[in-house]
Amino acid sequence: MQSGASGLAAAVNEARLWESLMDMARIGAIPGDGVNRACLTALDRQARRELIARAERAGAAVSVDPIGNLFLRREGSAPSLAPVLTGSHMDTQPNGGRFDGIYGVMAGLEVLAALHETGTQTKRPIEVVAWTNEEGGRFAPGCMGSMSYAGLKTPEDFFLVTDPEGVTFAAALAEHRAAEADLTQRPLGGKPFAYVEAHIEQGPRLEAADLDIGVVTGIQGSRWFTVTLRGETAHAGTAPLGLRKDAVQDAVRAIAALNALMHDPPDVLRFTVGRIEVHPNTSNSVADFVRFTIDFRHPDEGVLRARGDAVAGIVQAAVRDCTVEVEERFTAMPVEFAPMVVDAVERAAAASALGHMRLPSGAFHDAQFLVPVCPTGMIFVPCRKGISHNPAEYSTPAQLAAGTRVLAAAVAELANG
Ligand code: HGY
Ligand code: MN
Ligand code: MN
Repeated sequence: MQSGASGLAAAVNEARLWESLMDMARIGAIPGDGVNRACLTALDRQARRELIARAERAGAAVSVDPIGNLFLRREGSAPSLAPVLTGSHMDTQPNGGRFDGIYGVMAGLEVLAALHETGTQTKRPIEVVAWTNEEGGRFAPGCMGSMSYAGLKTPEDFFLVTDPEGVTFAAALAEHRAAEADLTQRPLGGKPFAYVEAHIEQGPRLEAADLDIGVVTGIQGSRWFTVTLRGETAHAGTAPLGLRKDAVQDAVRAIAALNALMHDPPDVLRFTVGRIEVHPNTSNSVADFVRFTIDFRHPDEGVLRARGDAVAGIVQAAVRDCTVEVEERFTAMPVEFAPMVVDAVERAAAASALGHMRLPSGAFHDAQFLVPVCPTGMIFVPCRKGISHNPAEYSTPAQLAAGTRVLAAAVAELANG
């Protein structure tokens, strides 16, 4: 590296990073400093064009793969070597914040800009990626782009998934790819030398410990299910309770039984019913249809398998009057990150004299699916009160820049490894 790690870290520009994040936050802005920018929408494409313009100014080559993963590449002195990959996602939750996902993409871009400005050439190429649909908010499950890149799924596996308006993933992807047909196309997949993702912690531990950097050791497991109940609609004023096939009442029975299954006094397990659809959804008609989601997480694979495998039976036993279908939509086993990357992140934090600690991630990330592909790790920066998936999500410009300096040092070290 011609300029040295200190020169590169010094070239990370806190004001430019913050301004790029605030620019992105205006694309899909919602009240309370929030952002609603779903994947494969016009807003998503607007943000991507903003990113592409910035990347080209930083001398990067832009390409896109068949599921819309967007890559920004800085050539290395040995172009044939496997690249070091960094990045994250640009899509947000419907009631999201300004930093979840987009921070890792803009931090990666800031690293490219710092390399460009200092004339630093690494041996290996460096690529920044913006993964398609990490959140799974519009189309479930999440991480469609990274799972397809890793070969765990194919884009076609998701084609029939519909969003709340009934639009299929296939149709949204086709529209998206047509709008980006001017970009250089690249095949699905790849074999990076390493992957490092910068992200806000989305939890309270770094702030509580008054530390700047999280050296992430791994990610807990997640399992998503959808429960569909079908009964009979009826008049709320005349239908005897004893004759009803009330999908809401059966949903209540099922969720109560799941609460018992997921009871965890040490409060390590995470169980969430976040979306409930009801039909006909009027106050004076008995519901003939309910679909609700289950998001279940745990760091221990045994618990994740045992309690997750019990979900369908527990729901079926609890439901009294309706028919019921339980479908597993997303399965991510716990992962441990590679010592080569975890140690590089820790060295970079120490070299910048930043307070740091090792910790696992409660949130899932695209990094979870890069683990079987290449040595993988993550860098966390603190976020205020650990708040995320909420417009109040906040990290300071200094915290975000510190994480980006650690990313620059870790990526440069790995790219010259
Ligand atoms: O849900 C998650 O863990 C991630 O923030 N999408
Ligand atoms: Mn995220
Ligand atoms: Mn998220």
